[in-house]
Amino acid sequence: MLINILGIESSCDDTSAAIITNNQIRANIIANQDVHRNFGGVVPELASRAHQQNIIPVIDQALKHANIDKKHLHAVAFTRGPGLLGSLLVGVSFAKAFAFALGIPIIAVDHMQAHILAHFIQNDAGDKPMPEFPFLCLTVSGGHTQIVLVKDYFEMQVIGQTIDDAAGEAFDKAARILGLPYPGGPLIDLHAKKGNPKAFVFARPQVAGLDFSFSGLKTSFLYFLRDRLRESPAFDTDHMDDLCASIQQAIINALMEKLLMAVKQTGVKDIAIAGGVSANSCLREAMMQMQETTGCRVFIPLLQYSTDNAAMIAIAGYFKYLRNDFGKFSDIPYSRAGNGTIPQTQFPGTLPLGSL
Ligand code: KG4
Ligand code: ZN
Repeated sequence: MLINILGIESSCDDTSAAIITNNQIRANIIANQDVHRNFGGVVPELASRAHQQNIIPVIDQALKHANIDKKHLHAVAFTRGPGLLGSLLVGVSFAKAFAFALGIPIIAVDHMQAHILAHFIQNDAGDKPMPEFPFLCLTVSGGHTQIVLVKDYFEMQVIGQTIDDAAGEAFDKAARILGLPYPGGPLIDLHAKKGNPKAFVFARPQVAGLDFSFSGLKTSFLYFLRDRLRESPAFDTDHMDDLCASIQQAIINALMEKLLMAVKQTGVKDIAIAGGVSANSCLREAMMQMQETTGCRVFIPLLQYSTDNAAMIAIAGYFKYLRNDFGKFSDIPYSRAGNGTIPQTQFPGTLPLGSL
């Protein structure tokens, strides 16, 4: 049987809609928000307004691109959290109203689980290799940095995570210090391609076990640059490429060190990366090297499934649909994940309103 699901992602600053038929994507439309560029980060209220503006055109475009009539949809999957509450509310409210009008079920999806499940999106030829359970996934985004032991589609355990800033946040903050617009991660990646990653060394705090810390690195980068700018006011623009390459290398080294430790500790042989920072070219290269040195199988998502997208929400929705794991019209979004473990089917924050 062919199952058609509409996926909606609105957790942060991208409004996205995707149509999936079973595990193959037929449309994945993303409207990026430019309004945050000059603010150094996402401005929550501007993000909510832009989602309001974009959501219906984006969904309309996804349906047209997939060449599917809305009456042939079987369910609407949406990001329930974590993310910005005002942004989430736009997607959640739209999903509920649309599904209610069509008389089809809703499916609540966890954003971080969805980043990982994007690895199970099949390609058009139907021959994409997929990770086998259990596998490890380094999930690195603007708000999260986690090493996740993935035991099954919805059975995931966080075995390491950041104790302060996320890796994407470290990229964005370093970029901001260098005067680059938001989001700075992709710009650092671009400059780094022309720079020397060994040009500068920044102090990096060591954290026990599989956890990470990035706020100390940001501070040492800030102080390093402040001191150099005192001596030479154009130091940052003169050395932009080397600075980007060196800070990028420091972030990627911190990630790879802990991932390698996790591989050794768990003995798991399939290793994946997911989330916005998995688009980083230096991280992708480091993963390919790891495949050679450890003999593990490495899984790197396509670029369009690395940063926020609704295709990942749609594939997570498909697996939940197969399990009859549907949401309630009384479900509300949540801004933060629970206690460090990726929530499974029940999330905190549901009001006891009963189901419609
Ligand atoms: O997963 P994502 O799109 O949104 C969140 O869930 O947060 O991740 C966004 C993060 C941002 O911090 C952005 O700077 C970073 O991913 N990012 C990158 C690259 N592309 C996106 N960081 C480094 N290199 C990249 N090429
Ligand atoms: Zn994300």
